Amino acid sequence: MAHDHHHQHDHPDRRGHRHEPGHHHDHDHDIDWAAMAPLLEAQAELFTPLYRRAMAWLAREVTEPGLIADVGSGPGVVSCLFADTFPGARVVAVDGAGPLLERARDRAARLGVADRFGTLTGELPGVLGELDYPADLLWASQSLHHLGDQRAALAALAGHLAPGGTLAILEGGLPARFLPRDIGIGRPGLGARLHAAEEDAFAEMRASLPGSVAEAEDWPALLTAAGLKHTGTRSFLLDLPAPVSDEARAYVAGSLSRVRERFGEGLDAEDRATLDRLLDPGDAASVHRRPDVFVLLARTVYTAVRPAD
Ligand SMILES: C[S@@+](CC[C@H](N)C(=O)[O-])C[C@H]1O[C@@H](n2cnc3c(N)ncnc32)[C@H](O)[C@@H]1O
Repeated sequence: MAHDHHHQHDHPDRRGHRHEPGHHHDHDHDIDWAAMAPLLEAQAELFTPLYRRAMAWLAREVTEPGLIADVGSGPGVVSCLFADTFPGARVVAVDGAGPLLERARDRAARLGVADRFGTLTGELPGVLGELDYPADLLWASQSLHHLGDQRAALAALAGHLAPGGTLAILEGGLPARFLPRDIGIGRPGLGARLHAAEEDAFAEMRASLPGSVAEAEDWPALLTAAGLKHTGTRSFLLDLPAPVSDEARAYVAGSLSRVRERFGEGLDAEDRATLDRLLDPGDAASVHRRPDVFVLLARTVYTAVRPAD
């Protein structure tokens, strides 16, 4: 019964040592996904209440799925939540980063669901061709936007759905707020300016993807163009008010240091200095110590069904 995808284990990772120099076929030259494992894991764990509510919503449309594929799963936190939510389903975590899938398998083993959990390593969307049978639920959370041609990728995903199967994509929503508008240091509104810088970095990231195609992000229209019937759109809030847990605080600090690394140099001197203070554990005004840190964001899920043949 359990289809085993473990033959994939021996494949070198996209960033594996066995690649010859110059033979990289990485989808993206800027992001080392494997190195982001701790951040991706901590984030997904913190977001668990949001994912649980999204899954409860999905479960109204998707009844007793046989196969669920988590497309661009990362370290598999959400894949394992699917295994928990749908105890009759086999779950396959699909990703290009082998080390992340190793963590996904470890997690599945720890949670006692390894017997119905598999992984598939390879480049999306082509690697989905290695699924043993069409999926009843394809979940793609913040992975589609890392593929150059999102329209073509959605069509490919739709092609791996069983008749009546659901494709659910999580894209967009509202960016995370971590602090009040005025934090008592620097110029008020830093958060909004960081979001603007992030939007620019996102646009650059998309433009640099291989085969990048500019596409208006009208997800219902794109799902319809892929031959599916758009069935729902819903946004889910993550609302962790101050005072936050140590985990939430660590997530905020991790997110802001990544912002500092990626485009800190593009900020004006005052904002850069404020960000540096926010990240300095020795500073009472830093996010490590200040009492007013919170996490507030929204993620949007779009669902679409493959019409029965
Ligand atoms: C932002 S992470 C999302 C992880 C997880 N789905 C979540 O929502 O937290 C994007 C994931 O997509 C994977 N990915 C990005 N582009 C890919 C590609 N072309 N082929 C395979 N995997 C890819 C990365 O390795 C990474 O794990």
